[in-house]
Amino acid sequence: MDRYAVFGHPVRHSKSPRIHAAFAEQTGQALTYEAIEAPLDGFEATLRAFIAAGGRGGNVTVPFKEQAFALADSCDALAAQAQAVNTLRVEPDGHLAGFNTDGIGLLRDLAQNLHVELRGRRVLLIGAGGAAAGVIGPLLGAGVAELVIANRTAPRAQALATRFAGHGPIHAAALNAPGEGFDVVLNATAAGLTGQAPAVPVSVFGPRAVACDLVYGPAAAPFLALARQAGVTTCHDGLGMLVEQAAEAFWLWRGIRPATAPVIAALRGG
Ligand code: ATR
Repeated sequence: MDRYAVFGHPVRHSKSPRIHAAFAEQTGQALTYEAIEAPLDGFEATLRAFIAAGGRGGNVTVPFKEQAFALADSCDALAAQAQAVNTLRVEPDGHLAGFNTDGIGLLRDLAQNLHVELRGRRVLLIGAGGAAAGVIGPLLGAGVAELVIANRTAPRAQALATRFAGHGPIHAAALNAPGEGFDVVLNATAAGLTGQAPAVPVSVFGPRAVACDLVYGPAAAPFLALARQAGVTTCHDGLGMLVEQAAEAFWLWRGIRPATAPVIAALRGG
């Protein structure tokens, strides 16, 4: 059995083992996938031990994505742009290849599951941490008309806007006045983890806006409640994105693309 794992801290509540078990069953692939909680100061040692024991690859979640980027021997273009890696693959010669499938996951979820067209749309991205960095390149690649990035700590948003300036129409704006009437508003902050919504005015939501939180479950609730209060009817958490980024990782490891819809439905079902 080929071994895979998700590394994070905390990682106990990760749905990734369930998702990859479902993909493996669906596609007849012989693999195991576990959740490994690495100590905050021990990601590299934990990863190396896993590889020494035969691990073939893994996913990396908060707070280790930047470290995974630094540890990878090579990276794909999206990981290089984001300076963060969420998928690692151990090549037959031991080379550690890094990828970032978060942005692809978000785009697939928006396009295939929500039927949201990004081309020509005005998009507000709230947050400027690793989660935000991972989706900017793909959003710009999708042909958005404008991507505004707003963050509580304004210089971080400005730094990301500067880093991606050559890739499309991106600019930074203040969190309390990022502009009005966006078509798509994405929450990539960690505010929901402490029960808060980011402090954006409700005027950010356009008349037919789509609101999407990049996290799933209760952590998405405060932002989506804010959107609903503003009259937004299309509100979505990050569960679909999670399953879609997992499917991309599965494809990178196994060369087979699993069907995502039944897995999303099963997870939503409880
Ligand atoms: P991640 O990798 O999950 O993005 P991160 O790099 O720690 O984690 O970034 C967390 C993001 O959530 C940041 O944009 C952070 O804003 P700051 O840069 O000002 O810290 C944002 N964030 C966290 N709590 C927030 C809150 N209560 N309101 C608004 N933004 C918040």
